[in-house]
Amino acid sequence: MDVENLSKEFKIYGDYINAKPFGNGLINDTFLLTYNQAGLNNRYIIRKINKSVFKQPEIVVNNSVSVSLHIKSKLINHGVKDISRRTLTFIKTHNNKYYHKDQNEDYWCMVLFFEGAYTIDYVKTKEQAYKTAKAFGEFQKLIIDANLVDYEDTIPDFHNTPKRLLAFDNVANTDPLGRLKHIEPELSILNKNRYISEKFADLMQAKKLPIRITHNDTKINNVMLDNETDEGLSVIDLDTVMPGIILNDFGDMVRTSTCPVTEDDKDISKVKVQLEIFDALTKGYVEQLAGIVTKTELDHLVFGAKLIVYEQAVRFLADYVEGDVYYPISYEDHNLVRAKNQFALLESIHKQEIGMEEIVKKYNN
Ligand SMILES: Nc1ncnc2c1ncn2[C@@H]1O[C@H](COP(=O)(O)OP(=O)(O)OP(=O)(O)O)[C@@H](O)[C@H]1O
Ligand SMILES: [Mg+2]
Repeated sequence: MDVENLSKEFKIYGDYINAKPFGNGLINDTFLLTYNQAGLNNRYIIRKINKSVFKQPEIVVNNSVSVSLHIKSKLINHGVKDISRRTLTFIKTHNNKYYHKDQNEDYWCMVLFFEGAYTIDYVKTKEQAYKTAKAFGEFQKLIIDANLVDYEDTIPDFHNTPKRLLAFDNVANTDPLGRLKHIEPELSILNKNRYISEKFADLMQAKKLPIRITHNDTKINNVMLDNETDEGLSVIDLDTVMPGIILNDFGDMVRTSTCPVTEDDKDISKVKVQLEIFDALTKGYVEQLAGIVTKTELDHLVFGAKLIVYEQAVRFLADYVEGDVYYPISYEDHNLVRAKNQFALLESIHKQEIGMEEIVKKYNN
């Protein structure tokens, strides 16, 4: 990849110094770029949009840029300092676009690299949970007045749980690899919990949950924290920003941050929602959004956790039955292990539901 020439498509001045593969992906599609600008070495991230996941990369670019500019103007109005570390700054090309399309029809975007900031992959302390959830809450608050018509779906039906369930049913009906016989216990849990998807469909049909612009990938490593203060600076990874419901964003934080083991862990006896982490997450998120979002949304946050954990379990199980076509696997039953793990997490939510609801109420008054 000729990153030097690629970078020259963008409006950055100075001398190219180098570009290094960035991140731990096997495919080098993200680079950390350094330019000498008037005697200072400044850094940028240049990255390719994944075409196989995002069929319409222009939408990804449009949504991420729109949301960043929206946040930027809000922060400027609020008199916030350090603007270029408080939201992603996208660099335009010489053609005045926020992306460059290369000869393979791949889309590349460039943003400023946040200096003096870090991310964490796993939540270990209540403070980390609080600060990262607060950052996602602030993000949501800043975009609460975003104009829906400016955004489109980057992945259609991304969190359409009934459709995910239907996809499972379809693949289970064909059972292409004869794997259905291995999943009897999981199938019964899946069936027992269909009410979750139905309740979601009812809520949407009754228009009880407003469609907002949401992040849709609220993993903790998508929040940049300040090296000095450990406070949240900016939410990143905006590829999945699109119309959605806040229940999924909150739910996915709970799913990815409150369990002491990863979603790949085979020892499901360790899979559970740690209430003290849930408490800190809820505090961080709800403190920002109480009075901003509706009471119905806040009253359904725990349901949001159930919804997304269930959806994820269904997706893993569907992929296992289908023959591991979507999620990369390291061993044969990997997706089944993941499904069992997520069903165990769902069970843990069911068991602690009353306590979780009380925690939400504590911060929502
Ligand atoms: N502008 C930036 N400045 C500094 N660090 C960054 C920036 N963008 C990304 N990073 C770092 O790179 C990591 C991965 O970035 P990002 O989440 O955007 O990519 P990704 O390929 O979607 O990764 P993942 O699949 O892990 O979410 C982040 O967790 C963060 O540590
Ligand atoms: Mg990320």
